[in-house]
Amino acid sequence: MSPTLSPRLRAVADLVIPEEAAADIGCDHAQLAAWWVASGTVPRAIASDVRPGPLAQARRSLDAAGLTGVEIRQGSGLATLRPAEVSTIAIAGMGGHLIVEILRAHPEIVGTARRVILQPNTAWEHVRRWLSDRHAVLDAESLTDDAGHTYLTVAFRPTARGGPWSEADIVLGPRLRRERPPALAAWVARRREHLETLAVRLASELGPGHPRVDEVKRELHRLDAAAA
Ligand SMILES: C[S@@+](CC[C@H](N)C(=O)[O-])C[C@H]1O[C@@H](n2cnc3c(N)ncnc32)[C@H](O)[C@@H]1O
Repeated sequence: MSPTLSPRLRAVADLVIPEEAAADIGCDHAQLAAWWVASGTVPRAIASDVRPGPLAQARRSLDAAGLTGVEIRQGSGLATLRPAEVSTIAIAGMGGHLIVEILRAHPEIVGTARRVILQPNTAWEHVRRWLSDRHAVLDAESLTDDAGHTYLTVAFRPTARGGPWSEADIVLGPRLRRERPPALAAWVARRREHLETLAVRLASELGPGHPRVDEVKRELHRLDAAAA
């Protein structure tokens, strides 16, 4: 197994609650769980995925590395866990819609974890709306640049309820908005440019009054209002 993690996965790994059992849902190669245990950060980890192929490969890699302490389980989402079995649950490298589906399917598992770490590779706002609906309290929220992409990582405390989220919190993230890391300004600039280019292209293809053009312009205004 690789002794190092990519910056993206390291952002997830570092948020685990140390010295307590953790689970990686949608583990694929199981690198995250292997790193947690091999580094001595947690004593025991569960690596779970819906597909048998990656799990067989992960099993071989773990055996070759002589790494005990990582238990492999096959199944969909959080169905492989029992309530309160682990302190940390990580779900990374999936689309935001799938992540929310997985979280919604097993409230009894989410609600008995001490920390849940999410790294959606699409639909960040969809994930934030789900968090906002439960008045979630974020322990961490960061942006990581890795191999030409920017990754969002959030950690929340399922047992805590905070204040309501604003629309700007949904667009930019409540902690990122407050902390304003340089990666946020870069992300806003790229997103602005993308929306502006899209609005011009759609206006020329569909006509300037087309509803899709208005929709993109509204999105641009939301972004500007949140970033102001
Ligand atoms: C792109 S990989 C990400 C692997 C790793 N988490 C990472 O961030 O590098 C997505 C993994 O999620 C798994 N997956 C997709 N839907 C799932 C589900 N409902 N339950 C568990 N795993 C799922 C896929 O089989 C795949 O191995």
